[in-house]
Amino acid sequence: MSALTELNEEIAHCSLCEIAINRTRVVPGEGAEDADMLFIGEAPGWHEDQQGRPFVGAAGKYLDELLALVNLNRSQVFIANVIKCRPPSNRDPLPIEINNCCNWLDRQIEIIRPRIIVTLGRYSMARFFPGKSISKIHGTVQKWNDITCFAMYHPAAALHQQSLRRTIEEDMSKLPSLLTQTDSVPEVQPQPQQLNMFEV
Ligand code: URA
Repeated sequence: MSALTELNEEIAHCSLCEIAINRTRVVPGEGAEDADMLFIGEAPGWHEDQQGRPFVGAAGKYLDELLALVNLNRSQVFIANVIKCRPPSNRDPLPIEINNCCNWLDRQIEIIRPRIIVTLGRYSMARFFPGKSISKIHGTVQKWNDITCFAMYHPAAALHQQSLRRTIEEDMSKLPSLLTQTDSVPEVQPQPQQLNMFEV
């Protein structure tokens, strides 16, 4: 059994949060165990909860299109979320849920050892670019624990706000060249975490 399959077994039995009670399926993530790029979204939605797979609804279809823009597909990257269970009515994840799930994400990162972490949306960004605002730092990189992190808007945000489509596609198009430049990225400076609830 691979290290990730073993980890998925553990995640499937997690009951740290109340939302575990009502999940249909846990959604640990999927993709190549040795992927160069790890995409991290927010939390499973209804479709993901039904299928146990990340990004399989409308936002997922758009993520597939974004990957195709840079000649990638799901089997070449790894796609995960900050939290592994669906919050009821797709509400935002609570700090306690993010905190409880943090260990699973850390262990996924340890196993996959990606060269680039791509954060999708502000919850994922908050973990790797603490204290930053997505409207200011999307399309930019910083190092976190020696891994290059690249911030992007969440694909769902671009579906709701058409004007973001071009931005997210331009940001995505930077990814291939980033893979060749990961050594020259500055280390992130820790800052107090502050999420602006009014930002996409
Ligand atoms: N949105 C996310 O952040 N993750 C998913 O898996 C699906 C939608």
